[in-house]
Formats: sequence, structure tokens, C-alpha cells
Amino acid sequence: MNKANNIIRALNLALHPEGGYFRETYRSKGEITQENLGPNFEGNRNYSTCIYFLLTSDGFSAFHKIRQDEIWHFYNGSPIKLHLISKDGEYSKIIIGSDFAKGQIPQYVVAYGTWFAAEVINKNDYSLLGCTVAPGFNFLDFELAKRNELIVMFPQYKSIITTLTRS
Ligand code: GUN
Repeated sequence: MNKANNIIRALNLALHPEGGYFRETYRSKGEITQENLGPNFEGNRNYSTCIYFLLTSDGFSAFHKIRQDEIWHFYNGSPIKLHLISKDGEYSKIIIGSDFAKGQIPQYVVAYGTWFAAEVINKNDYSLLGCTVAPGFNFLDFELAKRNELIVMFPQYKSIITTLTRS
């Protein structure tokens, strides 16, 4: 995993609470006020933010949700699998990567409120992506799933929830 460590160092990435490593690369100066955001948000938000996100195959991004649509962009490394549970309780998975003939896609939008988790597909590898949100990210908009609560909400997905949560 030397390659992953070199990227983490070169791009100055830090640990993310969901798993993986990130660094914010863009935060618009402009703000949307609370009154224009509506009741889904507490306080003002920047128009948009963007991060680098790197995940290694020895870890995973645990189930979490945010209040914004999140646009994922594939950069390099292994393709990455997203596991998604929509607000309506529908499970789906999607592979973001660059082997388009195999149905991988370079960009994917995770709808706001979707519970989602991610795993690197290849062994001993990493995935490097970008994640853009609008309105801009604030940790107030981020909720890491509690395993037991998510299982009570979606008992039919107990197995994947157990695999992709830490507590
Ligand atoms: N900034 C800090 N954490 C995150 C995240 O999980 N997603 C996005 N888009 N921005 C972040």
C-alpha cells in the first residue's frame, strides 16, 4: 500500500470519521442563507464544497448519510463499490471506476438522505475520488449510522449493514 500512503502524503489527506482519507479542496466564498435553504439545514451554507477522498482495501467507508446530493468523481486506483439504501428503503449498488465496457461509471450522484457505504473492489489497492456537494458541506449535515438503529430501520439488509458499520 505504498502507493496509497504516497498519495495520502502528497495530497495531505486526513482521516475521515466514516473511514478513508480526505481533504477539502474547494469551498465557495458565497453563502446561501438559512431562509433560502429551508428546514433541512441549520444555519447558512457555502454554495458548494469539494473534497479528495481516498479509501484503501483494508478499510471501508461506513454507512452514513448527508443532507446534500453528493457527486462522486473517479480519479484513479481500483474501482469502488457504493452500497446505497434510499430514503424509500430500496437497496442498490453501483461501481464507480474507469472500465466503462464493464458498466463502471466515472461519476455518480448519491441523492441526499440516502444511507451509503463504500468498499474498494481490488485487493491491496486504493480508490481515489472527488466528492462535490451543494450546498456546501458542514458536519452538521453528516450522520454516521449506528449499526443497531440502521438494522431496526432496514432489517432486510442486516448482513451488509453489519459488514459496513463499526458500532
Ligand atoms: N467534507 C468533509 N467530509 C465530507 C464528506 O463526507 N463529503 C463531502 N462532500 N465533503 C466533506
